[in-house]
Amino acid sequence: MTTSKGTIGVFDSGVGGLSVLQHIRQALPHERLIYVADSGHVPYGDKSPAFIEARSLAIAHFLVEQGADAIVIACNTATAAAVTTLRSQFTLPVIGMEPAVKPAVAATRSGVVGVLATVGTLESARFAALLERYGEEVEIVTQSCPGLVEQVEQGDMSSARTHALIERYTAPLLERGADTLILGCTHYPFLAPTIRRVVGDDVALVDTGAAVARHLQHRVKAELPPRTGSEAVEQFFTSGDPAEAARIMSILWGREVAVSLLPREYL
Ligand code: SIN
Repeated sequence: MTTSKGTIGVFDSGVGGLSVLQHIRQALPHERLIYVADSGHVPYGDKSPAFIEARSLAIAHFLVEQGADAIVIACNTATAAAVTTLRSQFTLPVIGMEPAVKPAVAATRSGVVGVLATVGTLESARFAALLERYGEEVEIVTQSCPGLVEQVEQGDMSSARTHALIERYTAPLLERGADTLILGCTHYPFLAPTIRRVVGDDVALVDTGAAVARHLQHRVKAELPPRTGSEAVEQFFTSGDPAEAARIMSILWGREVAVSLLPREYL
């Protein structure tokens, strides 16, 4: 019988995908996890879909070369731009993110759901399809959030500037009556405590990380060879400054991590 050591490749524009990696580690405690932060090109939110697709393809090739037999695009913007291409070019499971519209629609009592995400996600065809599917059941109000990804990339989750940006972006949604806010970017769960302070306890915050990890767990079990002798380690790579990435990622991951520079052909 074919067996595998078990390696999952995960990537994001930067450090935000660590919010998903945390859930993946809980769901799959024995897998080797390789994480790539494309910090040399963050943020993706204002880049062209063609650029993000090219970066996603390069990183996916690197992850496969490292032994990954499944890939998680832990970035809503990259999923919107590249998941279809990656699925057509790789035969392994490619799992993407999606703003959690379905659970939010089920949770709202006011009938108004707010979506915080990047311009790239909100302008994508995938998001338009979600709006078409669920937009008749409830009112869905969107808000792009320039600058928030950068705050997380600097490890600044709660300064006065971060607080002010969150106030600016959530106010129009609350004014429209939203009682449920979708965190439609994987960086935003790291801001959840500050968002909670700004919006109060009566507003639900919905994120997709745990659902994506459960979906991955199911696909690994159903489609991949049984895992034997896999090393439950995490390895971290960046296309940016490894020392700076290690500083921020250690804070977000909750312990000291080493970060390597991606090989030159993938930068
Ligand atoms: C970004 O890099 O601008 C955001 C990443 C995301 O959409 O999750």
